[in-house]
Amino acid sequence: MDERSWLHLEPEPAEHAVPADLIARDPMAGRDIGWVTQMRPFVRQFCPPGGRVFDPFAGLGSTLLAARLEGRDAFGCEIDAARAAQIGERFARLGLASPTVFAASCDTLADSVLPPFDLCLANVPYFGCRWVGETVPGQLYGSASYEAHLNGLRDVFHRVRGTLADDGFCIAMVQNLRVGERMLPLAFDLARLLGSLFTLQEERVIVYDRPARAATPLDARSNRSHEYALIARKHRERVDLLATAALLQALRAEGHRFIVFGSFARWLRDPASARPADADLQVAPDEAALGALMRSLALRGFSLRCWGDPVHLPLKLDAWRGRHYFRAERIDREGAVIRLDLCFEPSGPEASFDVLN
Ligand SMILES: C[S@@+](CC[C@H](N)C(=O)[O-])C[C@H]1O[C@@H](n2cnc3c(N)ncnc32)[C@H](O)[C@@H]1O
Repeated sequence: MDERSWLHLEPEPAEHAVPADLIARDPMAGRDIGWVTQMRPFVRQFCPPGGRVFDPFAGLGSTLLAARLEGRDAFGCEIDAARAAQIGERFARLGLASPTVFAASCDTLADSVLPPFDLCLANVPYFGCRWVGETVPGQLYGSASYEAHLNGLRDVFHRVRGTLADDGFCIAMVQNLRVGERMLPLAFDLARLLGSLFTLQEERVIVYDRPARAATPLDARSNRSHEYALIARKHRERVDLLATAALLQALRAEGHRFIVFGSFARWLRDPASARPADADLQVAPDEAALGALMRSLALRGFSLRCWGDPVHLPLKLDAWRGRHYFRAERIDREGAVIRLDLCFEPSGPEASFDVLN
């Protein structure tokens, strides 16, 4: 891989293509299956030699095969049991040992089941795909609405973040879609979603050859012969700690009430401790008081989001129950970041809270 922001997809060598009889048995006739060739440069570039690759949407195992051909360990999840079984068959035809594939969505697996990995690499399931296989709960091809589809993707990538090695990469291959008469910006929405869980690093555009007719005047449709590789990293981004501390003091002086806890509170007590990636604030679940704090942040140029979704003011707290926290973030012209997580519901056993005076 070089620095170019686009990659021209080279044809799949016949020996790595999905065997014709497996395609014939597949409910989608393999239409949604990616190419091994597409994944190999990403494995080489983003997984250390000897490292492990995880594909949460393994399909017929093209990513797992790419990883294995590049000398990396590989495992995956594929919710369709028939496809999960076919991956073993595909590997056996090549004389390769079968990778571990869980016939489940990774967010439903116990922590002890998923081994740690260094790279998550996947083609995500598309919304609006006419899936004719079994529709088990969690099968994102069966998502009834676009919103439900994005929520399902979020659950999976949230789980990926929990098990991915620190500094490891999460790369999702995705296209914007045409559903009915409109374009659905799945690639852009997924980028926003990944940005709420990881630090977005880059994009690469993957282009492939596909027959093209002359465009009809006033018809916007293209032959959709490109997709995006969204490259995100589990990274402790540098935040501006002194500016964060000054902001918290200023908010207190305005009369806002909150408790600082977690790594930012530890750093305040001991600046030699690990650098925090954000400041966690415990706030009362009081719509008026929390709304006033968020308005004050919005006036200072902060974006307000909840699990990647924009939060509009005046605050309607009931709409966000069960989501635990709001994220307020400001990025200045030099790229310095201030990030606050406003926790209005407990999301786990918090050991203790430290008060900032
Ligand atoms: C685009 S295909 C992946 C193709 C794969 N990269 C390959 O080339 O072989 C997406 C796959 O995700 C699976 N899937 C959908 N929802 C899932 C979920 N919640 N967990 C695991 N797999 C899921 C679908 O059954 C489908 O096989």
